[in-house]
Amino acid sequence: MSIPIKSNRPNAVERLRKAIISQYPLLYLLSWEEDRVERMVSSIARSLNPPLQVYIWSISQGLTLGNEAIPDTGNALAVLEYIIKTPTPGFYLLKDFHREVEGNPVITRRLRDAYYALKDRGKFLCLVSPILSLPEELKKEIYLIEILLPGDDEIAPLVDYLTNRHFKTTITDEEAKRSLINGLKGLTFSEIQHVLNGIFYGKPAFSPDIIDQILLEKEQITKKDGLLEFIFPRYRTSDLGGYATLKNWLKKRSHLFTREAEVAGISLPKGLLMMGISGCGKSLAVKTISSLWNLPLFRLDMSNIFSGGYGAPENAFRRALAAVDALSPCLLWIDEIETGIVGVKEGAQGGSTTRIFATFLTWMQEKDSMVFVAATANRIDLLPAEFIRKGRFDQVFFLDLPTEEERKQIFTIHLQRKGCDIMKFDLVTLAKTSEAWNGAEIEQAIETASIEAYNEHVPLTMMHLIKTLSQTIPLSRTMTEQIKMIRTWALQRAINAS
Ligand SMILES: Nc1ncnc2c1ncn2[C@@H]1O[C@H](COP(=O)(O)OP(=O)(O)OP(=O)(O)O)[C@@H](O)[C@H]1O
Ligand SMILES: [Mg+2]
Repeated sequence: MSIPIKSNRPNAVERLRKAIISQYPLLYLLSWEEDRVERMVSSIARSLNPPLQVYIWSISQGLTLGNEAIPDTGNALAVLEYIIKTPTPGFYLLKDFHREVEGNPVITRRLRDAYYALKDRGKFLCLVSPILSLPEELKKEIYLIEILLPGDDEIAPLVDYLTNRHFKTTITDEEAKRSLINGLKGLTFSEIQHVLNGIFYGKPAFSPDIIDQILLEKEQITKKDGLLEFIFPRYRTSDLGGYATLKNWLKKRSHLFTREAEVAGISLPKGLLMMGISGCGKSLAVKTISSLWNLPLFRLDMSNIFSGGYGAPENAFRRALAAVDALSPCLLWIDEIETGIVGVKEGAQGGSTTRIFATFLTWMQEKDSMVFVAATANRIDLLPAEFIRKGRFDQVFFLDLPTEEERKQIFTIHLQRKGCDIMKFDLVTLAKTSEAWNGAEIEQAIETASIEAYNEHVPLTMMHLIKTLSQTIPLSRTMTEQIKMIRTWALQRAINAS
């Protein structure tokens, strides 16, 4: 089913209010946050003239008004009959009702009847659900509103309230407050409450270093579930060896997502596609953009999109894009993008993947939000040519196996990370011995050699490294044919990152 999603920008409450003023009697509120939706609906209900009561239904409680239970409304059909027949105006908020509708033609029919019975009677039926699941027949009657995560308008008062409660004052440093609010974007209302309460607890006052603690917590929270995972800005450009052309390209664009650039009328780059050989640092390169550009990075997990846990894949994908628009300015990282569009060629989940592909292209072409897409691809042969052409990426880079000079840099980075004195290592020999090795393999070799040295109770030396390097065969040696193919393919379509 494809209902156009009405994003809640700029404000979810406003959209909901508008739907009510426009007299849509059946609403589908798409959200993980039942509490927040309940509060939103209650606040709108109170503000109407005359104010409306809010009834809540769940399979466990039946229909309730405050503490009062309405008898004989325990099952889905009974509650629909009650709402259709009762003359009392009000909001009827039904939780998890999509489960009752699924595969049940009687409930579907009664919902359609409810549309006509409730219309213009001051009665509103709201289904609240974290996933979008509705039969085709209800498409015309139901007004869908996606309640995205809290934005500035909701986070700012909550921050004021909690800083006041903990520190008996609000934050006067406007810049710090702005960073704090931005840092909390991407979390639900109750997650924000938990994070702030936990971090403020026992501290004498607000200080800007609290923001880093918040970002670390956000990373943990969004890792657990959700389509968008926040990635803490841990890596700098100096952590990536080689790829000077790519780095230069990124550096030139590092001040574009700013107020000044906007005022100067600079048009924003839309995205970057990095393809290349496995283990060469594509993912690492994406992570470095976040600190270079000073923008939050969110990773979209394509395997979650297809897991079914978020509804039909194309709906899940559209929701993720709507959510990321609301988080802007930000970076969106789509790792191994070919998994999302592979069906174009191979037919696996073909329908969904083709639609996802189309949705992505349209979104890329039309988006006016400050979202920069950094996509990576391994199986580049699976990418349709039109994806690269029409994908509207500002640049397509190919990350090849590192050159000798680049391998020197990679050794330096990882040896220094191990606390080694780089002067004690012959980088030229190391780089020559590691011909055809990728960055990940070099890192792994240093790791293995360190374990050897540790077991011998001596510091890591050249000898340990040379021994490890000579005992391992890099992947590229066993895959010469594939790598040759990838190179030929890529160099016709992309520019070399080195
Ligand atoms: N150019 C490099 N400079 C420094 N470290 C590197 C480089 N390339 C790879 N590494 C190391 O190898 C690790 C793995 O690299 P990364 O995951 O970024 O590769 P990838 O290209 O995304 O691989 P895959 O295609 O398998 O996802 C990095 O975290 C980093 O430690
Ligand atoms: Mg990767």
